[in-house]
Amino acid sequence: MIRAPGRVNLIGEHIDYAGLPVLPMAIDRTLTLHVRPRTDGRVCITSDLPSLGEREFEIVRTIPPYPYGDWGNYAKAAMQGLIDAGLEPVGFDARVTSNLPSAAGLSSSSALVVGTALAALAGGCDTPDPLPLASLLAKAEHYAGARGGGMDQAAILAGRAGHALRIAFDPLQVRYVRIPSGWSFVVAHSLVTAEKGGAARDTYNARRTAVERALDELGASAAGYPKLVADGSAEELIARAAGILGPELLGRFRHVITEAARVERAEAAMRSDDAAAFGRLMCESHESLRTDFEVSTEALDALVETAMTAGALGARVTGAGLGGFIIALVPSREHAEFLERLESSFYHPRGTRVDGSVLFTVQAADGARVLA
Ligand code: GLA
Repeated sequence: MIRAPGRVNLIGEHIDYAGLPVLPMAIDRTLTLHVRPRTDGRVCITSDLPSLGEREFEIVRTIPPYPYGDWGNYAKAAMQGLIDAGLEPVGFDARVTSNLPSAAGLSSSSALVVGTALAALAGGCDTPDPLPLASLLAKAEHYAGARGGGMDQAAILAGRAGHALRIAFDPLQVRYVRIPSGWSFVVAHSLVTAEKGGAARDTYNARRTAVERALDELGASAAGYPKLVADGSAEELIARAAGILGPELLGRFRHVITEAARVERAEAAMRSDDAAAFGRLMCESHESLRTDFEVSTEALDALVETAMTAGALGARVTGAGLGGFIIALVPSREHAEFLERLESSFYHPRGTRVDGSVLFTVQAADGARVLA
């Protein structure tokens, strides 16, 4: 059996593909794969989940994709990535169960990529070294169409119970940050999904292209964002960019630069148990994603605002955006009241009965594992 958790990003949104550090955690919502190795090189995945179904394909040197947007491409992406890396994925049958909501910013797709990769490696007998596999799978997932960064696969593979992960890239490195007792993270669904296989994917890729173009226009492509951020203050960088970039690219650039600074400050706030400061940074992050990066929606904005009124210390859209979940930081002692208030002020007026797929508390959990 294989367990692959989802992840929630606490802060550092849309900057992993710029090579800048992010601060997510793996969560206690997982995809579980009940696996049986096969000897004929075929992969067969079944599931009772309404979002999935059954897919079967053969592991060959070049695996032809399913139509654009098909979930089976995440399993094919993992197999193709392993082959391209010179590994020998083994065929398997897998029955998938899950308590991780899909298409909502909690990385159910990457959990499937990671879970199927583990199933195909050594017939699922052992859990491989997480970081090299995370790097490989981050690139491999591009097969499914979104040119993601490396945050999701790293958080899913290297997660640790009770800890957030400060993930840096090129080379991939993880620093664990203990989450102070007394901090609770709640995720709440905006009631609009963001299908990464559809329009959300195109917007995602367009944002990544814009972030890369901004760097080009500033003549800094060779150095890259990490060097830019290390060499100048956010204010200096933005002031210089304002003279060169048009308004749209300037907004994208300003988000990346200010978000990178927020990640550093948020890590420090978490280490010093300053929940109020961490919460403020989350709100600033949301504002930047709303105005400069334009990946929020009216529903997400309303939910963030309602969460703040209900007593959150900070709240923001999490993941790629354009729908899905927000994450809120809430003092643990007020956490039950917070859930009640959010239920009555956001969900009831919209006629939604709250269940465990819409509003819940997330705990930082261990990364993906091959169990027995
Ligand atoms: C998706 C991608 C990640 C990251 C986030 C936004 O989850 O897969 O690599 O870019 O969006 O922060």
